[in-house]
Amino acid sequence: MHSTFQPIVILISGGGSNMAAIVSVAQKDAWSERLGARVVAVLSNKPDAGGLRLARALGIATEVLEHRAYANREIFDQALAAVIARYDQPQRPCLVVLAGFMRILTPGFVAEHAGRLLNIHPSLLPAFTGLHTHQRALEAGCKFAGATVHQVSAELDSGAILEQSVVPVLARDTAETLAQRVLATEHQIYPRAIAKWLVQRQAQAGESPIR
Ligand code: GAR
Repeated sequence: MHSTFQPIVILISGGGSNMAAIVSVAQKDAWSERLGARVVAVLSNKPDAGGLRLARALGIATEVLEHRAYANREIFDQALAAVIARYDQPQRPCLVVLAGFMRILTPGFVAEHAGRLLNIHPSLLPAFTGLHTHQRALEAGCKFAGATVHQVSAELDSGAILEQSVVPVLARDTAETLAQRVLATEHQIYPRAIAKWLVQRQAQAGESPIR
């Protein structure tokens, strides 16, 4: 039995398909019993993010922090950190999972959550950091594209790589068709990377995984 559990907070800005994939795998694979972890909240910086409705339908608490309501990036990130901290458990600060969260985080926020802040980026990092990854991969003539789950560090879309998926680029691909195929693979690798992170955390805490 787990006397306390590892809380997971997922941050979104849009459709939330990665969030839904993570929550579905967490439920299907019984992360609560097997890995002592629970997705406790989904936070969005956009009130109209489609993922909020999805999260509620999956039974997850949601909160919105509209970044426009804050005077600057530092103040927004401090408010965000304060909301996340409300979900911390004793001795168990939240694992923070960025899933299509389209905000650049301040060094202070990243430092505060170091080692427990994960992101997924729709390219084979270190290629194509930033935006419009699929269009740029097509323009560069790449034969393969993909996605990367990584630890977040102070520099944009850098940090230790945890998982990658690869898809072939097809002759008829547009940025949209390529994005769709890459997104389908994101739904595979992100839950897997999080599960591995949880197993490692259990090992570090001297707990044995329940199978
Ligand atoms: C995903 O493709 C994700 O990799 C990307 O946004 C999409 C979110 O989709 N993230 C970034 O570009 C971050 N730099 P979703 O809301 O359906 O999960």
